[in-house]
Amino acid sequence: MIPEEKVREVAERISIVDVVSDYVQLRRSGANFQGLCPFHAEKTPSFNVNPAREIFHCFGCGAGGNAFSFIMRIEGLSFPESLKLMARKAGVEIEERQLTPIEKQAQSDRQTFQRINELASDFYRETLRVRPDGAAVRSYLANRAIADEIAEAYKLGAAPDRGDALVQHLKAAGIDLELALKLGVVRKSERGWYDQFRNRLMIPIRDAKGVTIAFAGRVLDSSLPKYINSPESPLYHKSAVLFGLDMALPSIRTENAVIIVEGYFDHLALFRAGVRNVVATCGTALTSTHAGLIKRHAEKAYLLFDSDNAGQKATIRSMELFLEQRLPAYVITLPAGDDPDTYLAANPVEAFADRREKARPAFEYFVRSLLAETPADSVDSKVRVIDELQPRFKKITDPVERDLYEKEICRLLDITVHSFRKRMGGMSLSGRDLTGRQNQAVRTGDQTQETLLKLLINYPEARDEVRRTGIDGLFEGEYLELARLVLDRLHDDDTVHALHQLPDNAAEPGVKMLLSRLLVSDAHIADIDWRIAFDNCLRSREKRAIVSIRDIAAQLARLEPDSPEYSALLQEADALRTRKAKIQP
Ligand code: UTP
Ligand code: MN
Repeated sequence: MIPEEKVREVAERISIVDVVSDYVQLRRSGANFQGLCPFHAEKTPSFNVNPAREIFHCFGCGAGGNAFSFIMRIEGLSFPESLKLMARKAGVEIEERQLTPIEKQAQSDRQTFQRINELASDFYRETLRVRPDGAAVRSYLANRAIADEIAEAYKLGAAPDRGDALVQHLKAAGIDLELALKLGVVRKSERGWYDQFRNRLMIPIRDAKGVTIAFAGRVLDSSLPKYINSPESPLYHKSAVLFGLDMALPSIRTENAVIIVEGYFDHLALFRAGVRNVVATCGTALTSTHAGLIKRHAEKAYLLFDSDNAGQKATIRSMELFLEQRLPAYVITLPAGDDPDTYLAANPVEAFADRREKARPAFEYFVRSLLAETPADSVDSKVRVIDELQPRFKKITDPVERDLYEKEICRLLDITVHSFRKRMGGMSLSGRDLTGRQNQAVRTGDQTQETLLKLLINYPEARDEVRRTGIDGLFEGEYLELARLVLDRLHDDDTVHALHQLPDNAAEPGVKMLLSRLLVSDAHIADIDWRIAFDNCLRSREKRAIVSIRDIAAQLARLEPDSPEYSALLQEADALRTRKAKIQP
C-alpha cells in the first residue's frame, strides 16, 4: 500500500516531458510537445504532450493519460510498479505501510513457496540435462525435434520414474513438505510422502515476471491423462495465468498484438519458429481475467485454436470476452486437422505469417460458422440465426463496426435491415439509433459540447454557472460523463493537482480518451471571455435541439403508434423539449 501523499509527491517532482523524452523524441509545437507515437506506427507526429497539463494524447490512436499511465503502458507495469519506477527517477523514497503479522506470514510463505518451485524446477532441469533417469524424456524431446536451446528457454525438465525423488531432494534442502503439498508437487499417504509427477516431461508455468508458479507434466506415451497440472495454490490461479507471457512480452510490445493458443506444444511450436508474441491458457478455457490481462498489454488479439468442434466453440466464447473488453479479436485458421505444431512442421513460418495476415475479425468468423451450421434458406432458419446472433451482436460497442456487421449479416441472410432490426426487438432504437447517434457524435467530435467542456476545465466561473443551472440538457453520452467528472473533481483550490489526477479518475476508456484529447488541444481557449463563448455554445445547442425535434416528428409519422419504437422516440422528444426550455427560459 502506497500512501496517497506519496503519489502526489512523485507527481509533483517529475515532469511528463522528461518522462516521455526517455522514450520519444519530442519537439516543441505551440503549447505542446510533439513526437512520433510509441503506441502505434506512424510517420508524421500525432503524439502530443502538454507540459502545463502534465498529459499526453495521440490523435492517431487515441492513447492518452498522465505520466503514470504513460509508464504503465510503455513498460507494461501496474500502477504501483510504475509509481515505484518514477519515484526512483524523482528521488522520492517510498516506504510502504507496515505489514500486519498475517500479511508478514503470507509474504514469508510466498517466499518459501517460490523457493520450493525453484528447487523443483532446478531438480527436473538437472534430471533432463544430465541424469540417467532423464533419458526417457531426453529421447521424447529428440523425437519431437525440440533442441536444447528451446528446452532451456522454457526450462523444461524431466520427472524421474521413481516414487520419491523430488521428496528426497526437497527434504535434503530443509523444506517443510506440508508447504510443498500445498503447491501440489508432492503428496502424502499412510505410507509416507511421494512425488506428484513421475516419468513425465515437466513444463514450468511462470508468471509475467518469470517466477515459476506451477507445473504441467506431460506423459511420454499415449496414455491418459496426457497432462497433469499443478492444482490451484497460493501462487497459482489458472484462470488468471497465461502460459508464456514472460517470454512473449517484448514481442507483444513491438507487435502490439497477442496470439492466443490452447496448448503448451502449440506455444512451443510457434516459439521455435520465431513467432514470439504468443500465450497459452493452461488447461482451461480463456476467462475474462485472461482477456483483461491481454488488454493491458496489447491492442489486438489473435485466436488460434484447433479447427475441431471444441476449438470452434472456444473461439466463439473467447470472441465474446473480447467484445466485452472492447479489444479487437481476429481468428487465425489452419487447415482442418492441423494444429500449430503439425502445421509448422510441414510449412515454413512465412506460410503462417500469411495466415495471420489473412485473419478475419472474430465476429465475422462467428457469423460464418453459424451459417455453416444453420444454412439460412428458410424464414425459420433465418430467425434462428438472428436469435443466435443477437446477444453477441449487442456487445459490439463501436457504432461503425456495428453498422458494417449489420449490413453484412443482412446480405448473408438476404433480409432487409428493417426486418433484422425488428427481429432484434426494439434494439434498433435503444442500441443503434439513439446511443449510436451519441457515440457517433463523440467519435467525430461534437464541437459545441467540446467547447463547453473546455470552458468547464479552464474557467471556475463556467463550472459554477453549470453547477447552478444544471448539467443535464448540456451534454450527452461520454461528454456528459466527462462533464460530471470535471464538476466533481475540479474545485477552485488546488486545481492544478486535481487536473493532473483527472485522467486517473476517468474509468471508461472512451471518457479518458476524450479527456486527454481536450487537454492537449484547448490552448486557444485560454484568455478569452468565457461568458461570450459559453452563451454561443448554448445558442448552437438550442438550434440543434430544434432540428432534432423536427427530425423526430418526421420519424414518428412513419411508425405505428403502439410500437416500442414510437414510445421511445416520444420520450426522446420530451427530453429535448425540456432541455430546450432550460436553455431558453
Ligand atoms: P492438447 O491435447 O492439444 O495438447 O491439449 P498439446 O499441448 O497440444 O500437446 P501435444 O502436441 O498433443 O503433445 C491442449 C492443452 O489442453 C490442456 C493442456 O494445457 C494442453 O496443452 N490439457 C490437455 C490438459 O490440461 N490436460 C490434458 O489431459 C490434456
Ligand atoms: Mn494440441
